[in-house]
Amino acid sequence: MKLCMIGTGYVGLVSGVCFSDLGNDVICVDRDLKKIENLKKGIVPIYEPGLDELVIKNYRNNRLKFSTDLKDSVSKSDIIFICVGTPTKKNSSGADLSQIYNVAKEIRSSISKFKIIITKSTVPVTTGDEIEKIISQKISKKLFSVISNPEFLREGEAIRDFTYPDRVVIGTNDKKSNKILKNLYSPLISKGAKYLNTSRRAAELIKYASNAFLATKITFINELANLCEKIDVNIEDISIGMGLDKRIGGRFLRAGPAYGGSCFPKDTKAITNTGDRFNTNLSVIKSVIKSNENRSSLLLKRVFDILKGKIKNKKICFLGVTFKANTDDMRDSSSLSMIPSLIKKGALINYFDPSGEKLDFKKIRNVSFSKNINSAIKNSDLIIIHTEWNDFKSINFKKEVQNKNFKIFDMRNIYSSTKMKELKIKYFGVGR
Ligand SMILES: NC(=O)c1ccc[n+]([C@@H]2O[C@H](COP(=O)([O-])OP(=O)(O)OC[C@H]3O[C@@H](n4cnc5c(N)ncnc54)[C@H](O)[C@@H]3O)[C@@H](O)[C@H]2O)c1
Repeated sequence: MKLCMIGTGYVGLVSGVCFSDLGNDVICVDRDLKKIENLKKGIVPIYEPGLDELVIKNYRNNRLKFSTDLKDSVSKSDIIFICVGTPTKKNSSGADLSQIYNVAKEIRSSISKFKIIITKSTVPVTTGDEIEKIISQKISKKLFSVISNPEFLREGEAIRDFTYPDRVVIGTNDKKSNKILKNLYSPLISKGAKYLNTSRRAAELIKYASNAFLATKITFINELANLCEKIDVNIEDISIGMGLDKRIGGRFLRAGPAYGGSCFPKDTKAITNTGDRFNTNLSVIKSVIKSNENRSSLLLKRVFDILKGKIKNKKICFLGVTFKANTDDMRDSSSLSMIPSLIKKGALINYFDPSGEKLDFKKIRNVSFSKNINSAIKNSDLIIIHTEWNDFKSINFKKEVQNKNFKIFDMRNIYSSTKMKELKIKYFGVGR
């Protein structure tokens, strides 16, 4: 099939590349000229395990193309996926849909034969109705069908998640388009993915409801971790004990820093905004948002306690600054608020992240980047394990840290407290 992905970011690039790997002809379009020029040279703009190889393989096979010409790409394709950003609006909790509606306006002049137009971006309920309205101002409704097909991939696991999804959700009442999409996704369905056809509005809501529920699980276990710290109970036991119940499930039930990233913070806000718009108070999700916003201050308070209130001139090393492991994405990472707060109190921050140095910290005084783990931790008073890259899982702290009184605050509970005790390392985890 001939596909066009509009927006070549985490979602558009990964899904475009994977669709091409399944044998489709795919054009990935972006308005960012540099990004497209780099991709043509095999330079992939994001860190995602396995992506580089797939980009190069499918680009060489000529099944994958990159372009900045949206109109030409749309006119050559039968199925158009909209994969642009839907960030939070500046002065409201709602989603900013300007990129989506701009695309709807741009594509309508290139529709001269039937096209399926799909929102893969996460969009609030009724956005599909609005896209249909915008396009039908210029084009007969017989020439296009607007469908919701939310994407559930996770950064860091994106290729696996795309190729082996739990479910494919297609929101449409149009039988003909549904049949075409079932065919497009048939290689994934034959590997076990459940195919779910719903109304367009239901598909739009399924995505937000899923993200809000996962954010709730994380926040729930984070709050229980706060309690565990006060009653000498290990949160890991609680997570395992709860997770073994199949009705609950063990995933997204590990205590740690505030959830961040490009999806949960903005999507939890957007769904409560939709609730308000339709006079429905989504009070559970609203309290999740509040609790999560408070999480970084709670963890910072623990840092102060660990350092006995003496932060000034303390050398604090962050291992990992992205919002989670195996991604280079800094969007809404809790390190973005924690590091500046520590700097304000006089700390000297050194960090290492396997995905490289971050622009976000370049201009902050007293924040420096180390090129490897050993030089990052070498002179530290406190080492904060902020994300759980495999690289951080077997560090010989005793050998590498030269400061004898160093402490570790493991925000991901990677290490065993018992082993750390045996090694006589001052070690603090979360919820234990
Ligand atoms: N990142 C994730 O893990 C993830 C997972 C599932 C769903 N989503 C959703 O998918 C959507 C995209 O997210 P992302 O993280 O891929 O965003 P992103 O910011 O990484 O990529 C969006 C891309 O769209 C391009 N773009 C914007 N307007 C354009 C236009 N008119 N023409 C061509 N290109 C244009 C931008 O230049 C950018 O490269 C969002 O709604 C997000 O919520 C993201």
